[in-house]
Formats: sequence, structure tokens, C-alpha cells
Amino acid sequence: MANSVKLAVIPVAGKGTRLIPLTKSLPKEMLPVGRKPVVQYVVEELNRCGLQKLLFITGPTKTAIENHFDLDMELINHLRQTGKEKLLMELAYEKADLQYFYTRQRRQLGLGHAILCAESFVGKEPFVVALGDTILGVNAKARIMERMIQVFEEKEADAVIAFEEVPEDEVHRYGIASPVDLTDPNVFQLANIVEKPSPAEAPSHLAVASRYVFQPEIFEYLKVTKPGKNDEIQLTDAIQSMIADGKKVYGVRVTPEEHRFDIGNFESYFSAFLEFAVSDPDYGEVIREKIKKFVK
Ligand code: G1P
Repeated sequence: MANSVKLAVIPVAGKGTRLIPLTKSLPKEMLPVGRKPVVQYVVEELNRCGLQKLLFITGPTKTAIENHFDLDMELINHLRQTGKEKLLMELAYEKADLQYFYTRQRRQLGLGHAILCAESFVGKEPFVVALGDTILGVNAKARIMERMIQVFEEKEADAVIAFEEVPEDEVHRYGIASPVDLTDPNVFQLANIVEKPSPAEAPSHLAVASRYVFQPEIFEYLKVTKPGKNDEIQLTDAIQSMIADGKKVYGVRVTPEEHRFDIGNFESYFSAFLEFAVSDPDYGEVIREKIKKFVK
């Protein structure tokens, strides 16, 4: 797909404290969901949507991510020599036409600060942000990034953000949109956005679904954003300032098939694993039968 946006920033520096002890030495982005680690689905989604250069914002304990995307010629040769063609296919992702870059967020000051670490890499180009701990759709079949880039180009927007409707008791976990109107419920301009509001304060139930497209001017807003919720520099607060400055920020709604799996807490991690396991082409049926037996 030809589009004007080629760069993706993938923040993976978060500590994953809600998944301790799993995440003590294992990055949450490397947790298995079905057959692949979370971050592989994210990279495959970006590749499918035409992104070419990926910058990971990493942190301590995250080197397994770099290893996962290396080309492992020793393993490839071994599988080739021993005739393990099927397993060889599982490593095809290593050969995707993508360039990988890594930089460290040296202090944990929040998502906004993590994005700011990408400034010199991004330069003057538009770019996307895809949170490395969130899969959209079973087996990451989401095409939302394509639609977001299309809206970004057509509307000459300054930012486009993915949204998913969530139940009221979940609004406190996400950035929540205040749309100008919902004449088109799938593509709407934002009048405001609020980070992790209480249900009473939430302007809607439309929650940021971990994918963004930005003009590089977002960096100017991030640089002057003060610590907000949880004393962190929030990306949402920088977006709020953009909107207040009259910039054009749009929301695009995910489809039900692009449902978010947020691998940041056990409930959502367990649900994701189950859903991917029961949709596995080889073992899905067997797993369904097993579940029926032990869930009475
Ligand atoms: C971040 C953002 C939030 C967004 C969420 C999921 O929160 O700050 O606005 O809704 O990702 O996309 P976190 O999950 O890092 O606390």
C-alpha cells in the first residue's frame, strides 16, 4: 500500500508492573499470545499497512525484543539442513522488508516522554505510534492504520487516533475522546481528549485504542507538557494542547473485528490467549473441547 507515512514509533519501555511476576525479567511485549509474542503481531500489523522503518523506544530488560527481530541465519540454516520446512515458514517474519531501530528511554517519565525520545529519528516526517503491548484483532488482522493514514491525508490532519467503545467501568484506564459530533460514528473530529477520567468526568466511552498518526509538531507540544495523571508526561495531554491550539485532530473507530487486546493486565492477557488459542488452525478445535470439559 502506498501512503505518505513510512515511520513507526513503538514504545516498549513500560515496566509491566501489573503483570508481575511474569514481567520481572521478561518484557510484557514478549509474552506469548497463541503462537507469537505480542510485539510480533504489532510489527506484522504495521508491515501490512505499509510502514517501513520501525523505531522501538526500549528500556532495561527489553533486549529480548531486539533478539526476536534479528535474522538468525544459524537457526535458518539448521532448519533448512534438517528439512524442517514448516518451522522455517514460522521464521519468515524475520525477512520482512522492514528496518529496525532501537533507542532507550533512559528515565521512566511516561508515554509522552517516551515519544519525545523519537524526535531526532523522526525529523520532519509524519509518523505513527503503535503501543507495543496491544494487539488489534485476533491474529492482528486489523487494517485500522491504513484507514487512519487515509483520514490523515484526506483531512490534512495534525493527528489521527484510533478509538474503541469501552464499558463505563473501564474509562478510567484510557484516554477518552470528546467528539465534536458523531454524524459519522466512524470518523470524527475531536473537541477534546482526557487522560483516564473517572466515569463521572468521562465525556464519552470512546477510549484511545493504542494507535496514533502524528505530524512532527506533536514534539513541540510534548516538550512543554507538564507531568499529569500519575505524575507522568502524558501523550494525551500534549494532544489536548494541540486541539486547544486549533489543530485538526480526528478519531477513527476500530471495527468489532479489530477489538483491542491490551496485554497490560492479567484479565485482558488471559482473554487474549484464550481467544487466540481457540482460533488456532491446528489446535483450536481441541482446545474448545477441553475448555468445555473443565468449564462447568
Ligand atoms: C496509554 C495512554 C492512554 C491510552 C492507553 C491505551 O495508557 O496514556 O491514553 O488509552 O495507553 O491505548 P497506559 O496503558 O500506558 O497507561
